[in-house]
Order: sequence, then C-alpha cells, then structure tokens
Amino acid sequence: MALRWSAVESSVAKAQEIFSLACSLIGEDAKRMRILRALTVIGVTVVAVSSVRAATGPLMKAAVLQQYGGPEVLKLQEVSRPEPKDDEVLFRVIAAGVNPVDAYVRQGRLSERGFDKRPMIIGYDIAGVVEKIGAKITKFKAGDAVYAYLPIMRGGGYAELAIAKEGEMALKPKNIDSEKAAAVPLAATTAWQALIDQAKIDKGQIVLIHGGSGGVGHFAIQIAKARGAKVIATASTANQNVLKQLGVDQPIDYTTAKFEDVVKDVDVVLNCVRADTLPASYGVVKKGGAIVSITGDPDPAECEKRAIRCSGVMAHPDANVLDELTKLIEANKITPIVSQTFPLADAAKAHQQIETRHTRGKIVLRVADEPRR
Ligand SMILES: NC(=O)c1ccc[n+]([C@@H]2O[C@H](COP(=O)([O-])OP(=O)(O)OC[C@H]3O[C@@H](n4cnc5c(N)ncnc54)[C@H](OP(=O)(O)O)[C@@H]3O)[C@@H](O)[C@H]2O)c1
Repeated sequence: MALRWSAVESSVAKAQEIFSLACSLIGEDAKRMRILRALTVIGVTVVAVSSVRAATGPLMKAAVLQQYGGPEVLKLQEVSRPEPKDDEVLFRVIAAGVNPVDAYVRQGRLSERGFDKRPMIIGYDIAGVVEKIGAKITKFKAGDAVYAYLPIMRGGGYAELAIAKEGEMALKPKNIDSEKAAAVPLAATTAWQALIDQAKIDKGQIVLIHGGSGGVGHFAIQIAKARGAKVIATASTANQNVLKQLGVDQPIDYTTAKFEDVVKDVDVVLNCVRADTLPASYGVVKKGGAIVSITGDPDPAECEKRAIRCSGVMAHPDANVLDELTKLIEANKITPIVSQTFPLADAAKAHQQIETRHTRGKIVLRVADEPRR
C-alpha cells in the first residue's frame, strides 16, 4: 500500500497544534488530552484514506534503482506516473531494450562523472504506443506505434509509462513487433553513427567488424551490407552461424584464429568489443582507411603513423537516424535479433545476461501486451 507517511505525520501534527490551541482556551487538561488523542486517531485515518486514494490513480510500475550495486538492486515498485511537458510525448511502453550501459549506470559508474538522480528509472530503448502528447508536439498523435532512444541523462525506459521528445523517436517499423523494435534504437543508432556518420563507408569497401554477433555488431553488419560493403566479422564459435545468417562475407572465429593473420587492407574497422582488439587492428587497415571504436579511443600516434583516420564514437539519440533505420527494417534490409525476453519484474536477470558480454543480438524486457489493432 502506497501510504505517504510524511503527509500523514505533518497533517496530524497540524491538527494537534490547532486543537491544542483551542483546548488551552478552555483550560481543562484532562479533557484536552482526551480530545487530542481522539483527533490524532481521526486525523491518521482521514489522511491515510485520502493518501491511498490519491496514490492509486497516478501510479505505474517501474524497475527502480534506489541504490547502486549488483543486478538485485533493481526493484519493481509503484511510482508516480510521468506527465508530458509541452515538448514531450508520453509513451505507454510495450517493451524496453537492455544495453551494456544500463548495467554501468546501475553499478554507479556514471555517478562518478557527476550524474546521480536516484531514485531513478534506467532504460534507454523503448517501443510502445503514444498515450498523450504535449501542446507543442506536431509529428505524433495518441495511438501511434512508436519507438525511441532516450538520452542516458534522462532514461526512464524500464517502466509502464515513459517520456520521450520528438527528436528521440520515430514511428515503429510496421513489419516488426514492439519487442523487436525495442531492440533497435540505441544499438542500431550507434552502428549507424559509427559506420555512416564517422567512417562514411561506401559501396564496395571492405569493413571489419569486431563483435559482429552482439547488439551493436549485428546491426552494423546489416547496415554495412545494405550500403553495399563487403563485411568481415568476428565472433566466437557459438555465433559463427549468426554471422553467416547475417550475410557476412568472411566470418572469423576469434577463438581459433587471429584476425590479423587472415585479414589485410580493409577500408574500415569498427571495434565493438571490450577486448584487446585495437592494437592488432592498426596493421590491417589500408592507408587512407579508418578505425572507429565504440569502446575506447584508438591511439592517435598509431593512426597518424599509418595515415589512417581514427575516432571514438559516443552515440546520441537522433530521430533522423531512427527514420532511416525504420526504412531499412521495412525494406527487410535489417532484421533485429532478440535472443532473450524477460518480464519487467525480471530486469535483474536481464542485467545478469548483459553483463556476460556474450549476448547474442539483443535482450528485451516485456512490459505490457502488444495492443490489438
Ligand atoms: N560508445 C557508444 O556510444 C556505445 C554504444 C553502444 C555500446 N557501446 C559499448 O560497446 C560494447 C558492445 O555493445 P553491445 O551492445 O554490442 O554489447 P553486447 O550485446 O553485450 O555484445 C557483445 C558481443 O561481443 C562479442 N565478443 C565478446 N568478446 C569478443 C572478442 N574478443 N572478439 C569478438 N567478439 C567478441 C560477443 O560475441 P561472442 O559471445 O561470440 O564472444 C557478443 O556477441 C559494450 O562495451 C558497450 O558498452 C558503446
């Protein structure tokens, strides 16, 4: 029961104060004490009942982070539902994607950078239905099926209702359900911003993708193929079939072969793993080529020495990128892989999986049933 005890206590204290004053005018101590006790009981009851009533309407369920720590700190709770401001859209969330960064925030690793909004709701990928729009929203209306990439500073995705801005969302691709759509925004936007915006890959180029079977990697492979590139990608033995299914031209099993022994003169390397892959990558890129890393910056001295362009990527929400992704998904050029789905109440289990660093494709939280249309 969501009793608001601070409100109860302060209301009772106020009632006691007023009646104590009234009784002091009467001046009869015993009578005064009896009246005060009775008023305390009545006050608690009245305020408690009205608090519960007020709490039932505007609540929603969310996986809330009260304290930093292991996956078990994520607790399903009832919290106030958000209200959209003029430039905001209220989502009824059907599914929420899970990303490695969710675990970093849960562990408190971003709080060290001056970011701490506890109690808070994490989750940066959502798919669902527009529930309500702010006065300045022009592109979306209530009932639209949509998906969004929420900024890390705001989050709010692990919840029945969440807020997005127009610049962070797009219409959901019509040919996939909300679970698959929730897998897309952060990971596919990262792949797009790395390969298209930074590396500027082109038709006929050779692209090497480290971590091709993961959340970002499996979208990167499909984006590169859609651009007409030849794709080489690495993954463990268990994920070689995934690479083949995604159309990788040269799959490499990093557990049995060193990529630097079998690859040379690529145009672009995209590094999607937190492993020791960058040092050996400089030698496999042709002069004038590029290395883009989403897990740490390449060494500028190495890049300069070899005349290659190098950059680290920090992805950010961009509705235009989501629109491009929607087109590619609807054209069946990109198909999200969702390897596991968990109910919102099992967010902790989803975090245990994402922390293995060996997730195949994406994992998603199911928040509500898909609406019937
Ligand atoms: N900079 C940014 O804006 C940004 C955005 C998104 C993600 N990231 C970061 O990028 C990394 C990848 O994200 P993600 O969402 O793709 O993670 P993920 O879904 O956990 O994917 C991990 C993948 O990496 C593969 N892998 C692990 N070790 C490997 C190795 N030595 N060589 C090749 N592949 C290996 C795994 O395949 P196997 O199981 O087959 O080993 C798995 O499929 C994370 O560290 C994440 O924090 C950064």
